[in-house]
Amino acid sequence: PTGKGWMTEHLVQYQGFWFSPNGLKNLMWLHDHFNPRPTDIFLASFPKAGTTWLKALVFATVNRTRHGFSDHPLLTNNPHVCFPFLDAYLHEKDPSFLDLDGSTTPRLLSTHIPYALLPDSMTANRSCRFVYIYRDPKDVLVSKWHFLSKRRPQELPPFSLEEAFELFCRGISHNGPFWDHVLGYWKASLELPEKILFLKYEDLKEEPFGAVKRIGEFLGFPFSLEEEREGVVEDIVKLCSFENLSSLEVNRTSVHKFSADSLVDNRHFFRKGIVGDSNNYLTAEMIKRLDEITSHKFFGPGLLFHNS
Ligand code: A3P
Repeated sequence: PTGKGWMTEHLVQYQGFWFSPNGLKNLMWLHDHFNPRPTDIFLASFPKAGTTWLKALVFATVNRTRHGFSDHPLLTNNPHVCFPFLDAYLHEKDPSFLDLDGSTTPRLLSTHIPYALLPDSMTANRSCRFVYIYRDPKDVLVSKWHFLSKRRPQELPPFSLEEAFELFCRGISHNGPFWDHVLGYWKASLELPEKILFLKYEDLKEEPFGAVKRIGEFLGFPFSLEEEREGVVEDIVKLCSFENLSSLEVNRTSVHKFSADSLVDNRHFFRKGIVGDSNNYLTAEMIKRLDEITSHKFFGPGLLFHNS
C-alpha cells in the first residue's frame, strides 16, 4: 500500500512514477505494440491540468475545415470521445475503447504517461507532435480531490483533502510526482521545440485566441487571414469554452467508458474551470508548502511559474 487514500492505495511505483496496475500493464503494451504514424498528434498532460479543454481546442482546430460549427462533433460528443486516451488499457484488447488502426489521419491520441517513460517509438519519431498542458499544482490537486471524491464508491470512507494533500506532496498520485511529469515535458520541449508545444492552463485562460492560433501553427493547421477575418478562432474558443461544453446535454448526462472497469460521468470533467480555486480549499500553510515545493523543484532547472 502506498497511502491511506482509497484511490491511491493500489498505486505502484515504476521508475520513479506512480501508476495503477492496469496503467502499468498498458504502458508495457504500448512499448511492445504501439506504432506511431508520422502524422500522429499527441496530447500529454498530468491528470486535471486541463486535458479535456485542450482536447476540445485541438480537435476543433485540426478538424475545422471538415466539420464547420453548427453540427460540430463536439456538440454531441464528449471531448474524450473525439480525442481518445492511449492510456486506455489496450492490453485488454477490447477495440471498443480505442481502435488504433481504424482512426483517421491525423490520429489524435492523448496520454498521461511521463515523457521519460514513453516508448522510444513515440519520442524518436521526429514527425509526430506533442502538445502538453501544465497547470498550477494547487489547482491540480484540488481538482483531482474533487474528481476522486465524486467517484468514491459509497461503501468506502471519504478521502480527506488533508490526506490527498500529503500524498500529492510526496509525489503519490496517478502518473506523479506532478513536478517530475512537468519537468520531463518542459525539458523535452526546450530540446525539441518543433516537436513539443508546452502550454499553461493559466495562459490559455488569459489569452485563448493567441493560444489557439499557436496550436494551429504548431500542428501544421495555421489559420489563414481570411479565417481570422471570419472569426474562426473566436468560434473555436467559444465552442470549447467551459460555459459551452459544460452546458451541453452530452456533457451533463452521458457516461464515458475509459475501459472495462472505468466509467466516468461526463459532468465530472467540468467543475469550475477557473484559475486559483485552490485558494478556497487549501489553508495558508498548505499553500505555502506546495508553493515552496514548486519553487524548489522548478527553480534549479529554470522553469518559471508565477503562483496564482
Ligand atoms: P476544476 O476542477 O478546477 O474546475 P482534466 O480535463 O485534465 O481532467 O482537468 C479537469 C479540469 O479542467 C477541471 O478543473 C475542469 O473544470 C477544467 N475544465 C474542463 N473543461 C474546461 C474548459 N472548457 N475550460 C476551462 N477549464 C475546463
